[in-house]
Amino acid sequence: MKARACTRREYSAIFLVLAVAVLILVLCNMAVLEFHHKVNSTIIVPKVSTDPDMNQSFCTFQPLSPEDALEERLLLDSIAWPETPPLPAPVSLEQTSDPAHSTFTVLPRRGGGQWHVGDQLEVMIKMSDFHGHPKKHGGDFLLARLHNLKLGAGVAGQVLDHLNGSYSAVFSLPWEGDAQVEVMLVHPSDAILVLNRLNREHPDRILFKSLFRSGSLSETTDCNVCLRPTQQLLCNYTDVRTGQPWFCYKPKNLSCDARISHARGQNGRFIKANEEKLFRSGVNLKVYIRASGPARFTVLPKKKGQLEVKSSSVTSGPSGYYYQGAWRALDGTTVQQFNTSSAITECLKGKKVHLYGDSTVRQWFEFLNKNLPDLKEFHPQGRTKFGPFMAIDNANSIMVTFNFHGPPLVSFIRVPPTTFYYIANEIDRLTGGTDTIVGVGIWAHFPSFPIELYIRRLQSIRRAVVRLLTRAPGTVVIIRTGHPRALTFDLSLIFSDWYSLQRYKVLRAMFKGMNVHLIDAWSMVLAHHLPHNIHPLPPIIKNMINILLSHVCPQNST
Ligand SMILES: *[C@@H]1O[C@H](CO)[C@@H](O)[C@H](O)[C@H]1NC(C)=O
Ligand SMILES: *[C@@H]1O[C@H](CO)[C@@H](O)[C@H](O)[C@H]1NC(C)=O
Ligand SMILES: *[C@@H]1O[C@H](CO)[C@@H](O)[C@H](O)[C@H]1NC(C)=O
Ligand SMILES: *[C@@H]1O[C@H](CO)[C@@H](O)[C@H](O)[C@H]1NC(C)=O
Ligand SMILES: *[C@@H]1O[C@H](CO)[C@@H](O)[C@H](O)[C@H]1NC(C)=O
Ligand SMILES: *[C@@H]1O[C@H](CO)[C@@H](O)[C@H](O)[C@H]1NC(C)=O
Repeated sequence: MKARACTRREYSAIFLVLAVAVLILVLCNMAVLEFHHKVNSTIIVPKVSTDPDMNQSFCTFQPLSPEDALEERLLLDSIAWPETPPLPAPVSLEQTSDPAHSTFTVLPRRGGGQWHVGDQLEVMIKMSDFHGHPKKHGGDFLLARLHNLKLGAGVAGQVLDHLNGSYSAVFSLPWEGDAQVEVMLVHPSDAILVLNRLNREHPDRILFKSLFRSGSLSETTDCNVCLRPTQQLLCNYTDVRTGQPWFCYKPKNLSCDARISHARGQNGRFIKANEEKLFRSGVNLKVYIRASGPARFTVLPKKKGQLEVKSSSVTSGPSGYYYQGAWRALDGTTVQQFNTSSAITECLKGKKVHLYGDSTVRQWFEFLNKNLPDLKEFHPQGRTKFGPFMAIDNANSIMVTFNFHGPPLVSFIRVPPTTFYYIANEIDRLTGGTDTIVGVGIWAHFPSFPIELYIRRLQSIRRAVVRLLTRAPGTVVIIRTGHPRALTFDLSLIFSDWYSLQRYKVLRAMFKGMNVHLIDAWSMVLAHHLPHNIHPLPPIIKNMINILLSHVCPQNST
C-alpha cells in the first residue's frame, strides 16, 4: 500500500536497495558454496569384492549410533509388509488380485440405526483373482476415500489387512450429509514383491551422470548413492557433516574436483518380461473396485453427548478432512482461510520463510510468489528450476527462499553440483527465532533407493531441527509429507506410491512428539477429488499454505 504512494525516484531507490541486498545474499551464499566445493574429494581405491552375496550388500551405509540404529530397526519393523508367496514362474495374472472381480461392502452401523457425525464407518473389501476365486492371503496395496463432491468434502480411510484376502477400510464420519465410499487397488501383492526386489537388488536402477571438465579435457562418468564395485576408482562426494553418500566413478584423466554437472541418465530395466503385466493401467494399477451394494449413505448430525471425531492414530490416521473445499484439521488446529494477498502479507510481515526440499515444496514458493504482488523474485542468470530461489517484499520485510535438497536428484536437466543443499546443513546456518519459518519437504526423489538412505537423511534433518529449536525455540518448523501421484507402468517401477507410503510412515514416526507441524500431504491428496499428481493442483496447495500460515499466525495470538 505504502509503495503505491512512492515517486518514480523513490521506486528506483527501493529497487537499488533490493538489488544490493539480493546481491550481498547471493555473494555470501556463493562464498560458502565455493568453500564447500574446494574441499578435496577423496579418491577411493576399489577393493575387489569376494562377497558371494554382493547384490545384497553393495549398497551399505555408514554405521549409526546405537540409538539411531535401534530407531531404524523399529521403523523397518513398523513398515514391514505382509509376506506374499512368490508366483510360480512363468508369471501369469490368473492367481493375482483382480480389481474387476473384487468388491467392497459398507458394513451396517455397529449397534444399528443410522449414521451420525463422529461415528466410525467400516468397509469390508474382498479381493479375488482373475478367475473370480477369493484371495487367501493379504499384501495388496489399497487406498480408500469417503467423499461428497457437492459439499467439497473428503476424508482418507485407513486400510487394515486381515491377511486372509479381506481388508477393512475405516473412516471417521466428519461431516453431515451424503457420503460415498471409493476403494482403489494401487498394486496387487505380487507387484509389491517385485517393487521390493527392485529396491533390494537394483537400488542403482536410476542412472546418474556427471560431466568432468578441465581445460580442453572432458569426461562423463556414472554416479549414484551406491556404485557397484569395479576396477574403476571412485570419487567420494559424501557430505562430511551429514554423512549423506554420493559417489562417481573417477574420470580417467581428470581429478574428482573437475565435476561440473549432475544429471539423470536413462534407467536400467530390471523387470522380467512376465512381470510387466502386474503393472497395467486400467487392469491392476490404480483401478477402482466396485461396491457389492450401496456405497452412498447419509450422515445425520452428531448425537448429543457423542465424542468428537479424533484422528484414530497419531502416526497413521488422516490428520484432517475437506469440507467446502477447505481443509479442517482433526488435531485441534484451526485452519484459517488466507484468501487475499493482504491477509497473507499481514501474516508474513517481518518474517523469513526458508523452504527446503524437492519440487513439491517449491510449489509453496511458487504459490507465495504468484499470490503476493509485492514479493519480488530475484532471477539470477542461468538458474534452472532447481534454484536456489529468493523473493523479497522490502516494504513488508518478507523474505522467501527455496533450496533444492542434496542428491539423489532425479532429473534429466543438467545442473551444477553446487545446486544441491543438504537440508540439515542449511538449517544449521539459520539463526532462527519467531521471525523465521522453516518448511521442509523431502521424499519425491527417494523412492527407488534403500529406505535406510531416507531414514538417515531424516535423522540428519531432525538433529538439525532439534539444534535449531534449542537455540531459537520460537522458530516455526513445518514438515511436509509425501503423497500419492499419477502412475504409469514405467513410473511405478521407480516412483510407486507404495514406496512413498513407506516413506510417509517413516517421516510421520520420526517427527512425532517434536515441536514441529506436519502437513499431511498424503491425506490431503488422497481425500481430494482432484486426480493424484506429483505436483498437486492449486486448490490443494492453497490449503497447505493455509495450514502453514495458521501455524505462523494462530488465531488467538493477536
Ligand atoms: C587433494 O587431493 C590430491 C590428490 O589426491 C592431493 O595430491 C592433494 O594434496 C589434496 N589436497 C588437499 C588440500 O588435501
Ligand atoms: C546378482 O545380480 C545379477 C543380475 O542382477 C545376477 O545375474 C547374479 O546372479 C546375482 N548374484 C547373486 C550372488 O545373487
Ligand atoms: C478374514 O479375517 C477377518 C478378520 O479376522 C474376518 O472378519 C473375515 O471373516 C475373514 N475372512 C475370511 C474369508 O476368512
Ligand atoms: C566417503 O567419505 C566419507 C566422509 O568423508 C567417509 O566417512 C566414508 O567412509 C567414505 N566412503 C568410502 C566408501 O570410502
Ligand atoms: C586419457 O588420456 C589419454 C592420453 O592422452 C587418452 O589416450 C585417453 O583416451 C584419455 N581417456 C579418456 C577417457 O578421455
Ligand atoms: C475464503 O474463501 C472461501 C471460498 O472462496 C470462503 O468460503 C470463505 O468465507 C473465505 N474466508 C474469508 C475469511 O474470507
